[in-house]
Amino acid sequence: MGNVFEYRQGLLCCEGVELQKVAEREGTPCYVYSSAGILNAYGEYAVGLEGIPHRICYAVKANGNLAVLALLARAGAGFDIVSGGELYRVLKAGGDPEKVVFSGVGKTREEIEYALSEGIHSFNCESEAEIALISSLAVRLGRTASVAVRVNPDVDASTHPYISTGLKEHKFGIGIAEVRGVYDRAAALPGIALDGVSCHIGSQLLDASPLLEAAQKMLDLVDALRARGIPIRVLDLGGGLGVPYHAGDPRPDVPGFLSTLKSLVAGRDLFLMLEPGRSIVAESGALLARVLYRKKSGEKEFVIVDASMAELIRPALYEAHHEILPLRECRFGTVKADVVGPVCESGDFLAEGREVANVLPGDTIAAMTAGAYGFAMASNYNARLRPCEVLVEGESWRVVRRRETLAELVRGEQ
Ligand code: LLP
Repeated sequence: MGNVFEYRQGLLCCEGVELQKVAEREGTPCYVYSSAGILNAYGEYAVGLEGIPHRICYAVKANGNLAVLALLARAGAGFDIVSGGELYRVLKAGGDPEKVVFSGVGKTREEIEYALSEGIHSFNCESEAEIALISSLAVRLGRTASVAVRVNPDVDASTHPYISTGLKEHKFGIGIAEVRGVYDRAAALPGIALDGVSCHIGSQLLDASPLLEAAQKMLDLVDALRARGIPIRVLDLGGGLGVPYHAGDPRPDVPGFLSTLKSLVAGRDLFLMLEPGRSIVAESGALLARVLYRKKSGEKEFVIVDASMAELIRPALYEAHHEILPLRECRFGTVKADVVGPVCESGDFLAEGREVANVLPGDTIAAMTAGAYGFAMASNYNARLRPCEVLVEGESWRVVRRRETLAELVRGEQ
């Protein structure tokens, strides 16, 4: 639990706010985010990279709420986007298009045109065909698009297979062995400035050494490309640093990682970009839920709550661990139980076989470390209304997205 969430007099608080009050006033399920936590995490990156030319492009996919984006935009962040929708969100939140990098393996013509006309900073491209398309659209719109090729550095991120991206067999990027030819062929295309290299090897890395290994490979590539006359100016190393989901997990040493990175890059006339998502927002978010029922089936105990895989799919999808804490410290010990939601799937659980507080119907709990890829991956499955989102600032909070309504559930249908 990051220090923005802590118990005070038996009540779980986010900054100066008792979460029990939020649950009562705003209802459940409900996501709560700490603005101080988000700004601290961003600040750690900003301070860590001071002194070298750089930009921290927050990965919008982790949590795209407008209030979160606005907070980061005001702090000076750039943004890493993977769709036209994310660009729309960034612009709505007051983000500067000149600080936006567009990543992703399948950008459509419409999305590229939108990004070009808004004047974003650059594209991270994943195939030769995509570079050719950007070139032709940029010429048509009278723009020059700054382009980096996303390189697959063939580094093992040793993370969950679904969130590992940097090996040869993955769909992402262009293999480091083939990429020089791609640069040679693309260098002559009109409408683009082929001036960057980029990579992203995976997510939830608790150990930064694969990232540093990738960085070294990318620096060697920069040297090789420059030697071929391609004027590389930008190095984008993607995101990926993890957070401790389990109470006992190691915490990645962000300042240590950044200082090593800085020493690798210093003096090489490069503009360094990073695309952290999870490490900026995960620990600053929790999903509040209310206990609906308790039930026992044979020896198995179930705690049935009003949040489900529709609101937080990470346990079902990645067997991810989120600590489950009672909003009011529980006097009745613990119980080994599955914490499950109302959705009609056996995979619908927030925790399985977990020793949790012995909570009763009406009590409220929080699934912790849910600020990243929580609401962002929420769905309307089982015709559930997407939950509200609340942003805490000091002693107060505000609803930054209200709970969906039944009418919104069928909007656009006929
Ligand atoms: N840049 C690129 C190109 C990415 O694909 C990603 C994440 C990031 C940056 C941000 O990575 P981060 O700093 O958050 O690790 N839904 C999964 C995570 C998927 C990550 C996808 N790409 C989860 O809930 O664990």
